[in-house]
Amino acid sequence: MINKKIKKIISKKNKTKIICLTAYSKNFASEIDKYADITLVGDSLGSVLYNYNTTRKVTLNNMIEHSKSVRMGIKKSLMVVDMPYQTYRNKNECLKNAKKIIQQTKCEAIKLEGGKKIKNIINHLIKNRIPVMGHLGLLPQSAKGKFKSKGKSEKEKKQLLKDAKLLEKIGAFSIVLECVETKTAKLITNSIKIPTIGIGSSSYCDGQVLVTDDLVGLNETKIKFVKKFANIKKEITRGIKKFKSEVIKGKYPSKKYSY
Ligand code: KIV
Repeated sequence: MINKKIKKIISKKNKTKIICLTAYSKNFASEIDKYADITLVGDSLGSVLYNYNTTRKVTLNNMIEHSKSVRMGIKKSLMVVDMPYQTYRNKNECLKNAKKIIQQTKCEAIKLEGGKKIKNIINHLIKNRIPVMGHLGLLPQSAKGKFKSKGKSEKEKKQLLKDAKLLEKIGAFSIVLECVETKTAKLITNSIKIPTIGIGSSSYCDGQVLVTDDLVGLNETKIKFVKKFANIKKEITRGIKKFKSEVIKGKYPSKKYSY
């Protein structure tokens, strides 16, 4: 039976935009949960938290431990967890690892990168009642060299559209479109019934996702699609400086804060 939250997300297509944000820990998740439809534990945590130059270094254990923390912060949004690199090389490996993620983290869906190439793998998950979010366009787990936009050429556009239709057909409940050229993102969004969630893929998508650390200014990045909506680094610095100054002056801890 399709999860109620997933049904609600699908029903937003052509009505209201879908909000998706990444979380890697409880404290972020509990704030995101108040406003997002989907909280995604993305393997972007590899670069954001561990300074890896590729998401390929992220392990299943990394994803499970961060997801356990995120779970504690979520009350209402749909929790989706990325399957890390080389944890879904074939359908049996994928099902085993997806079940492990779900059992240990209580997440409600899994995200995998790719289209036709992983059709049988996604099919197998869905047949085993595991909800799947697709991911097309720029695929960080298989990208080589500099990240480039996708769907500019006719060939890429056709392939992306084909992949999106395929994912819809086999039962994915939504698709992340990463760095997909505007016209292609619009075409895909208008050609399928499941929602597209864009990241660097124009406002034509049914929803948007960003890495939360980027949008709040905690993670320094020069990626074109990242807009800094807040600067919490400043606030953190202010607090730390104040703490230091009060400790040095002997002002903290005062009687109020001492036993
Ligand atoms: O890993 C991630 O955070 C993602 C999103 C940015 C879509 O896949």
